[in-house]
Amino acid sequence: MFRIQDSFVALVFAIALVVLPGGADAVGTPFGQATGTTGGGSATAATPSSLAQLTTWLSDSTARVIVLDKVFDYSSSEGTTSGTACKPWTCSPNPQLAINANNWCTTEYPSASTTTVTYNTAGLTPLKVGSNKTLLGKGSNAGIKGKGLKITGASNIIIQNIKITDINAQFVWGGDALQIDGGSNIWIDHNYFQNIGRQMVVTGYGAVTKTTFSNNVFNGEATYSALCNGQHYWVALFTGNGDQITFAYNYLYKTSGRGPHVGGTSGYYQNVHIYNNYFVTLDGHAVDAQVGSKILLEGNYFNDVKIPVQRSTGQAYAPVSSSEASACSSVLGRSCVANIKTATSGDLPGVASDSGTLNGFTDSISKGASIKAASEVGAYVQANAGLGKIN
Ligand SMILES: *[C@@H]1O[C@H](CO)[C@@H](O)[C@H](O)[C@H]1NC(C)=O
Repeated sequence: MFRIQDSFVALVFAIALVVLPGGADAVGTPFGQATGTTGGGSATAATPSSLAQLTTWLSDSTARVIVLDKVFDYSSSEGTTSGTACKPWTCSPNPQLAINANNWCTTEYPSASTTTVTYNTAGLTPLKVGSNKTLLGKGSNAGIKGKGLKITGASNIIIQNIKITDINAQFVWGGDALQIDGGSNIWIDHNYFQNIGRQMVVTGYGAVTKTTFSNNVFNGEATYSALCNGQHYWVALFTGNGDQITFAYNYLYKTSGRGPHVGGTSGYYQNVHIYNNYFVTLDGHAVDAQVGSKILLEGNYFNDVKIPVQRSTGQAYAPVSSSEASACSSVLGRSCVANIKTATSGDLPGVASDSGTLNGFTDSISKGASIKAASEVGAYVQANAGLGKIN
């Protein structure tokens, strides 16, 4: 029954919503390696009125809190380009083609057949993001379409509740959604990625430190894919020279590679703490440990994942049994939290001979991380990751 008191309470609440300051700042507190990140801080929140204004606000040297209230569609903003592409994969149906960027086709796939394609120019020129910025989406359908973001040697950045989609998805080298080439204090939280030509997120080769990727949805459902399985391959790639990254509470759905791929350049190193992520229906690999990587996996849940962890030449410590988990104590001063894989997933090779991996996680943030039991992760991540869960 509706009473006078209820309408009074509702009125007071409505007034409070209007007058309370700070409601448009980043939501929640950065944790993990990104602890202490403030983004645009107390700058007055503002919503850009055009693509040009958003482009300028992201890249200038003013601290800003930029609130997006809709999808800013850059797809056709710079017209189209026609050029040579090759067909590196001959599977069917719908293999991705590769734009011949930096002569990649000629170098990597010299015998692949070629064709001429047309793509949106905007996908190849990402938006520059400067230091001291918060980019915050409102509701569950705000973000950027047809163009990605690029951070180069900048710091103190929060990107939250943003959807980044539809960047020349048919073409490898058609564009990345988020590229970071050197940077620190970066929090990438509660975002959504789908239909991207190349990487959904990528670091390198400048060091990316004090950075956390959390509560993001990587939706790999795709028409065009490298393996012709309807699943996006190029998900997350961490190759900076000294990356220090937390990757937690993310939701990887129907992806088939690089989830994430860490390392790959001799002489570089990356320490990536991957915990409490939910991996579902992956027709390929999730984590790929390449040379230089130290990866600590805790409390992750692999549900129907063909290859949960692929060790190539890197190090990945992925405890499964309670004895493997408790073996962390001597280095971390606490037990690790074991990972779980379902019966329909491939082998998860535990800690193998990777005990030296733990030396990359002796900092107070890694040691003090609060990690859920893997059995809670499916429900938690489905309820909390992605758009519209905050703000
Ligand atoms: C970012 O903010 C900090 C602290 O106010 C300031 O020292 C720094 O110069 C800013 N960076 C840029 C590029 O504006």
